[in-house]
Amino acid sequence: MSQSLHLDKSLGKEEKYLQILPQLKALVQGEEDRIANLANTCAFLKEAFNWWWVGFYLVKNNELVLGPFQGPVACTRIAFGKGVCGSAWEAKKTIIVPNVHEFPGHIACSSASLSEIVLPMFDAKQEIIAVLDIDSEYLNHFDEMDARYLNEVLNLLMIR
Ligand code: SME
Repeated sequence: MSQSLHLDKSLGKEEKYLQILPQLKALVQGEEDRIANLANTCAFLKEAFNWWWVGFYLVKNNELVLGPFQGPVACTRIAFGKGVCGSAWEAKKTIIVPNVHEFPGHIACSSASLSEIVLPMFDAKQEIIAVLDIDSEYLNHFDEMDARYLNEVLNLLMIR
């Protein structure tokens, strides 16, 4: 599979998701190593949307541990139920935070981050194996459309 990806940065958000999904599918289908696929997914999303921080926290020994990411240095460990990531893991649900300052217990890895979305990633047994955390330096940056398409991204990754 060619590593060159086609990104038209002038597109609107939904069109961008529609443009990247088939390319991401082709990219991850050609590789069976999950960490490699998570890493390329972060790179692709960061390049397409220019979000502040895009990364995975992996469930290890009952806590979340920093995995592949793109963006500034981040906190390495997050406990179950803590912060937005730990809360999404506990609730087994996507959490959209329009303003992190209004989310009790938010973990501020970077003071530049103002809004975020966190999606749990399930394995075939419906166990959560990771969360996808995306942060923006703008308020109110994520919505249900992001939740829907990012969930499709995670479904693609579960092919491997
Ligand atoms: N904001 C997250 C912590 C991780 S960093 O933003 C990369 C949280 O509260 O879970």
